[in-house]
Amino acid sequence: MTPAPQQMPHAEGVSDEEFRAAMARLAAGVVLVTAHDAEESARGEDVGMTATAFMSVSLEPPLVLISVRTDSRMDELLTRQDLWAVSLLTDAQHKTAGRFAMKARLSDRLLFKELPHRHGAATGAPLVDDALAAIECRTEQRVAAGDHTLVIGRVLATHLTQGEGGPLTYFQGRYRSLR
Ligand SMILES: Cc1cc2nc3c(=O)[nH]c(=O)nc-3n(C[C@H](O)[C@H](O)[C@H](O)COP(=O)(O)O)c2cc1C
Repeated sequence: MTPAPQQMPHAEGVSDEEFRAAMARLAAGVVLVTAHDAEESARGEDVGMTATAFMSVSLEPPLVLISVRTDSRMDELLTRQDLWAVSLLTDAQHKTAGRFAMKARLSDRLLFKELPHRHGAATGAPLVDDALAAIECRTEQRVAAGDHTLVIGRVLATHLTQGEGGPLTYFQGRYRSLR
């Protein structure tokens, strides 16, 4: 019997399933990557994407990195403009994470309507109220990596917000709280 495509080993010997199962055991903090699409056809729409692939890269200069799936809405937007932000979500914000991870969602405009936020002065990107922190960035480098693009950003501003509670984490396919 031919194995299902996701179970087929790659040339290097690991199937998608094996790779996913191993990576699911890495506990990760959940962030909302955001940007303001200033293009006229977008009518100034705010865009958001739930992500765990976010990390600090360098202190001097201050750099961070996000990994964005090629052809996602955020990937397309960040090829046109270089300002974006990341909000570090609290465990009380798991519904927000779930909403901004849905592929066939109605519109980010509606989602942001129901999400308390303000726009960062450095980037114009939405910053989620009551997140643990928010970081505003300008893209410094883009690196194509398989089906994702690594976007390295210079940190323009940081905000420590009033978020109560612990970080929202993702582990073995579920949102978790450390408390
Ligand atoms: C917990 C979690 C973490 C995610 N992390 C990432 C990530 O780091 N990078 C990414 O491109 N997509 C990530 N995604 C998927 C995106 O949130 C999702 O594909 C996107 O919002 C759907 O929008 P699209 O229609 O533009 O693809 C993650 C999803 C979840 C549930």
